[in-house]
Amino acid sequence: MFISTHNMKPSALFSTLSLCLFLFLFLSLPPPSLAARCNPNDKEALLQIKKSLNNPTHLAAWKPNTNCCNWNGIICNPATNRVATLQLDSGNLSGQIPPAVGNLPFLENLFVLNLSNLTGHIPSTVAKLSHLTFLAISHTSISGRIPSFLSQLKNLTYINLSYNQLTGSIPASLSQLTQLTAIDLGGNKLTGKIPSSFGEFTGAVPDLYLSQNKLSGTIPKSMGYLNYSAIYLANNMLEGEVTPLFGKNKTLRFVHLGSNKFRFDMSKVELPVTLFLLDLSHNGITGSLPASFASPNLMNLNVSYNRLCGQIPAGGNLQVFEPSAYLPNRCLCGAPLPACK
Ligand SMILES: *[C@@H]1O[C@H](CO)[C@@H](O)[C@H](O)[C@H]1NC(C)=O
Ligand SMILES: *[C@@H]1O[C@H](CO)[C@@H](O)[C@H](O)[C@H]1NC(C)=O
Ligand SMILES: *[C@@H]1O[C@H](CO)[C@@H](O)[C@H](O)[C@H]1NC(C)=O
Ligand SMILES: *[C@@H]1O[C@H](CO)[C@@H](O)[C@H](O)[C@H]1NC(C)=O
Ligand SMILES: *[C@@H]1O[C@H](CO)[C@@H](O)[C@H](O)[C@H]1NC(C)=O
Ligand SMILES: *[C@@H]1O[C@H](CO)[C@@H](O)[C@H](O)[C@H]1NC(C)=O
Ligand SMILES: *[C@@H]1O[C@H](CO)[C@@H](O)[C@H](O)[C@H]1NC(C)=O
Ligand SMILES: *[C@@H]1O[C@H](CO)[C@@H](O)[C@H](O)[C@H]1NC(C)=O
Repeated sequence: MFISTHNMKPSALFSTLSLCLFLFLFLSLPPPSLAARCNPNDKEALLQIKKSLNNPTHLAAWKPNTNCCNWNGIICNPATNRVATLQLDSGNLSGQIPPAVGNLPFLENLFVLNLSNLTGHIPSTVAKLSHLTFLAISHTSISGRIPSFLSQLKNLTYINLSYNQLTGSIPASLSQLTQLTAIDLGGNKLTGKIPSSFGEFTGAVPDLYLSQNKLSGTIPKSMGYLNYSAIYLANNMLEGEVTPLFGKNKTLRFVHLGSNKFRFDMSKVELPVTLFLLDLSHNGITGSLPASFASPNLMNLNVSYNRLCGQIPAGGNLQVFEPSAYLPNRCLCGAPLPACK
């Protein structure tokens, strides 16, 4: 770089020199990495995780002398440089979820997805992850119970433990989480009742996905005290009434209760006008379809395989649905089915 210093005032000379010095320093440094710099404790934990998984080829790029914020499956918080996201979702990973995940104290998102050879329990060290907001362990072979310590992780907004081999009952304490937007425990082998505490969420009311388990008993009456938006309970062994969920003052939009042992008189039910999807197929429901079914908002309906009878009300989309939405039943009639006799 050539800069003429002739005829310059001392202050101008000084700033020109500063500029040169700045440019020199700037150009001689390696370009600043766009990724955050890895915290050594986080790197240590990640290397433990890699080791517990028997150094799989999928994690070959996790090398000690490189920035762990650049490793596949890792995202660091740019403000703190701490590992905020760990995502294990591909590769031939086997063994158990490494207990060392508990040594990533600033983890906010833990995703363990689609790893059919992953077995064992949810490690108790997850209880240490106080910043956790998203927890998704889905489509793996992990077994054991849903740990009740999840209720201590107060910032959890999303729990998805669907399609694993989990057993035991649903921890009642999950209702102590006030930020939850969704709980998906579908596709496991969960037994016992839906906790009555699921009518006692004090903050947000989460969307509830509990389909394809072995849940029994009745829907707790208390659930009728809350404004749920989505309730999926299909393919369980639930029985009794579902009427607590319905009623004019509700804001329900999605309800799937198919393939259970519900047995109640439909004629007495008042559907909320907000309902968009209602599947009650494969139960033992009696009575007739009340006028509230003719809501223009109801876009998906299936009441097949029950013991319903009487005229299908006219209005809404009821005449638009396929006959298979209504058949078989005991003696439903009227459009789209043949006219009543
Ligand atoms: C799971 O393990 C079996 C046996 O070791 C192996 O054949 C299979 O490819 C693995 N599956 C996946 C998805 O990695
Ligand atoms: C997956 O890993 C298991 C155990 O390490 C091994 O036996 C199997 O051959 C691997 N499968 C594939 C498709 O790489
Ligand atoms: C899940 O993993 C299998 C094999 O490991 C793969 O073929 C499939 O595409 C994956 N599914 C998703 C949704 O990633
Ligand atoms: C929980 O979330 C709130 C709001 O986002 C945040 O201020 C707080 O630090 C979080 N607590 C933990 C332990 O992460
Ligand atoms: C839970 O995860 C599965 C698989 O990753 C996904 O298909 C499902 O939509 C998720 N559930 C919710 C409520 O997001
Ligand atoms: C609906 O009304 C019933 C009876 O008046 C009441 O007990 C219940 O709390 C209300 N539910 C909601 C979600 O407002
Ligand atoms: C549920 O929503 C309805 C309609 O918006 C409202 O009138 C009722 O107070 C709400 N109930 C509760 C418990 O929030
Ligand atoms: C209703 O559910 C039954 C049984 O699951 C199914 O066979 C039928 O195709 C469904 N009909 C509609 C319109 O969804």
